[in-house]
Amino acid sequence: MHVTLRQLQVFESVASNLSFTQASRDLHLSQPAVSMQVRQLEEAIGLPLFEKLGKRIGLTECGREVYHYSRSIGGALQEMEEVIASLKGVNRGRLAVAVASTINYFAPRLLAAFHDAFPGIALQLDVTNREQLVQLLETDAIDIVLMGQPPDQVDVESGVFMDNPLVVVAPPSHPLTTASNIGLDRLAREIFVMREPGSGTRQAMERFFVEHGISIRHGMQMTRNEAIKQSVRAGLGLSVVSLHTIELELATGELVILDVEGFPIERQWHLVHRRGKRLSPAARAFREFVLSEARSLVESLPSVRPHP
Ligand code: PGA
Repeated sequence: MHVTLRQLQVFESVASNLSFTQASRDLHLSQPAVSMQVRQLEEAIGLPLFEKLGKRIGLTECGREVYHYSRSIGGALQEMEEVIASLKGVNRGRLAVAVASTINYFAPRLLAAFHDAFPGIALQLDVTNREQLVQLLETDAIDIVLMGQPPDQVDVESGVFMDNPLVVVAPPSHPLTTASNIGLDRLAREIFVMREPGSGTRQAMERFFVEHGISIRHGMQMTRNEAIKQSVRAGLGLSVVSLHTIELELATGELVILDVEGFPIERQWHLVHRRGKRLSPAARAFREFVLSEARSLVESLPSVRPHP
């Protein structure tokens, strides 16, 4: 079977986009050139790789198999490039890092310091929620992930690099801001602005309330910490957020941490990668850097101080 790397690369782009047009854009090729590479690959293999589903295209069974192998061949090639780069020194290479949207409040500080220490390493940062991070780990599509709880469903190695306390926040005008040791049953009378179900913050908050036998009233749901904070400020409800997302609002007094029994929920931030993944020298340098430096780099973050 005469299959070329170029054919596989073009096929992989069409397969991941399920579009010849998008693949031709991504690869800066004409559409006939893309179609020809795929046709030649189909001829070499002797089976069709795509099928028409109405106006769209889908992978055939053979196409799915070839997609699986072409991705691992692509991964092996990249690994080879990185190993070669490492022979030239650690201060080279590429590194793909994905972080939980909640970490994005301090990730830039971390990455800037890493970039100062290793200016030759090209970093690519993806910011998304917990559910997507788990998927990136599952499909082995990322070098390193910074997230809350490591996933159970993927075999990973992880290390804690910082605490991540979750607190209850309210607008300064809320009557509970002056109360101490507020009982959880009192919270059941409040409305909570919620993150989306894929959020790690939301999962931790829901687990906490279930464990304490409290059912809280859900208000609006939003995918961004920024939107959550604005909504709490606007009086749409209380919320449970990572302390690391409200540095500015605490400083300006726009949000107040409530003194609630059982809070803060003690969580930690983890650095995670797939177990057995052969980390490039750039990824190893990043892991060492985050595990040893993160705490001191972000020590300006607020600590849990309920109302004065
Ligand atoms: P998230 O944060 O709520 O932005 O998904 C991740 C986590 O706390 O696990």
